[in-house]
Amino acid sequence: MVKKIYSVLLFIILSCSQSKDIIKAEESKQSDGIFDRKTARTFSPDRVAQEQIELIIKAAFASPTGGNQRSCEFIVVTDRNVMLNLKKGNPYSQALDTAPLTIVVAVNTKTAIYPELLTLEAGIAAQSILAQASKLGFSSVPMSIAPQRNRIQGVSEALNIPSEVIPQVMICIGQPAIDAVSSASTNYYDKNKVHYNKY
Ligand SMILES: Cc1cc2nc3c(=O)[nH]c(=O)nc-3n(C[C@H](O)[C@H](O)[C@H](O)COP(=O)(O)O)c2cc1C
Repeated sequence: MVKKIYSVLLFIILSCSQSKDIIKAEESKQSDGIFDRKTARTFSPDRVAQEQIELIIKAAFASPTGGNQRSCEFIVVTDRNVMLNLKKGNPYSQALDTAPLTIVVAVNTKTAIYPELLTLEAGIAAQSILAQASKLGFSSVPMSIAPQRNRIQGVSEALNIPSEVIPQVMICIGQPAIDAVSSASTNYYDKNKVHYNKY
């Protein structure tokens, strides 16, 4: 009898400590990275430090690529004049007016083994950039370039990108301007769009 009570108690203690661990893991997940992502389209002039830029770029390189083809390339823009040139052909890019940092994710069609996967890989790299920027406390906004020809052309001209390299998406990063509306961004969970084992 005593043995039975003992094992029931042990079971209760073990399951309580396990559920605490799960809660802890969820809390820590929600306190950084993608769960803290915030969108800004007007930025303060504060610079992003070189070490922070490198960490963001390293996060992009840490992204997976099909067959490990590694054909994404990154153009880091901090020069205001260059940034304004990026606006050519990009109608929804007002963030470029004030951003201290813009990273253009491009794909190299010459080094690609699986060209059909390049767009997907650029998107994954962009997501890593958004998550790392957010982890460092920055706001951001992604802006698509491809597949629109005029946007690809405008960005390629502004950055002197060779024809075999296609810019896909650019991400403005920085601290939001004091009066800027920065959206909370991540509360989009919708259980109706999640399907387990079958649609
Ligand atoms: C593929 C893609 C393209 C986007 N293009 C633009 C753009 O050209 N200009 C812009 O201001 N925001 C752009 N966005 C940002 C979306 O407008 C934004 O993520 C969406 O409105 C939801 O807002 P939130 O990210 O703050 O939750 C783009 C986002 C994605 C994923």
